[in-house]
Amino acid sequence: MYPLRPEYPLANVAEIPSPALVFHPALIAANIRKAIDAAGGPDRLRPHVKTHKTAEIVQMQLVAGVRKHKCATIAEAEMLAAAGAPDVLVSYALIGPNVARLVKLIEKFPGTAFSSIVDHPIQLEQLSKALAAANRTIDVLIDLNVGMNRTGIVPGPAADELYAKIATSPGVRPGGIHAYDGHNNAEALADRHAVARASLDIVLAMRDRHERAGRPVPRIISGGTPGFPGYAGVRDIPGLECSPGTYVLHDLGYGSKYPDLGVVPAAVLVTRVVSRPTPNRVTLDLGNKSVAADPPLARRVFLLDFPDYTIVMHSEEHLVVETDGADRYVPGDVVYAIPSHVCPTVALHREALVAENNRVVGRWTIAARDRFLSV
Ligand SMILES: Cc1ncc(COP(=O)(O)O)c(C=O)c1O
Repeated sequence: MYPLRPEYPLANVAEIPSPALVFHPALIAANIRKAIDAAGGPDRLRPHVKTHKTAEIVQMQLVAGVRKHKCATIAEAEMLAAAGAPDVLVSYALIGPNVARLVKLIEKFPGTAFSSIVDHPIQLEQLSKALAAANRTIDVLIDLNVGMNRTGIVPGPAADELYAKIATSPGVRPGGIHAYDGHNNAEALADRHAVARASLDIVLAMRDRHERAGRPVPRIISGGTPGFPGYAGVRDIPGLECSPGTYVLHDLGYGSKYPDLGVVPAAVLVTRVVSRPTPNRVTLDLGNKSVAADPPLARRVFLLDFPDYTIVMHSEEHLVVETDGADRYVPGDVVYAIPSHVCPTVALHREALVAENNRVVGRWTIAARDRFLSV
């Protein structure tokens, strides 16, 4: 049984329509603090905003001293800049019309230094051409494939050539190496440390080659939440930045697998029993339009303080579980739940309720869940 933390129950829950997403700023603040302490200072962090997409959380990070941010979409970049973030990396290779959108953002937000990544000469050519035409120059990092095989150029001569080309192209400057290790997901901490070290060795070898050739490598950006402990403890690499995203809200996909992280889920779902279709079934209003359906059915969402159960069905507006304890539930009963994958769960909600001292006290808009804000 997954326990209900004392912060989660809401005294005014009777007024809250379900399903609802609830953020707990006190827990968010503690998670931000924890990451800063683990990394040895806010300068060593570049958190990914995709988890929460929320200006108020960006502001909490800024207040905590975190000045560098990372995002995946132009809308996230715009939300960050509008929230006052001074340094925004779009860690997604921009192509086609999104290149012009980045240029518009650069023009609209002069107080923010934007940067981006490339893993192919075509992306570099498009970026360089558009930026040079607008008379702008930004840092561009090379996206290195250190084993995840999702994006990134494989380390070696082609990668070196691409980085050298950044140094000679107009409108762009060599911004360093981006090496996201999404494959670094072993349960044992020692195994995650080993993957982080192997990834850093590849990156450092590349950095040294370019520095010897006179090309700057001002930063190395590594790791998500599972690999974070492996990078956070490394203090002897200048410009090394850690880029966890999930940790700030956290979830039980990571939380149940990596108890070593020490952060706690700060985004909770409020759901109600809506039906008892058979003697051993309880149906909740927590369909796949309110909690992300990418994790396997058995571990899609974790019901708290709920008798042992098996998820047997998950449709658009219904979550059906089987449990020997079904008799304890009637329609209207409130159940609190933690998603297995918080990032896409948040993006399903237009707003999150905000809870303090066990009461809902406000609402925050998930501003960058939209693909377009103003540009
Ligand atoms: C490029 C990049 N950096 C950082 C992160 C953050 O990883 P995590 O969600 O494990 O914190 C992600 C996650 O998808 C990512 O794609």
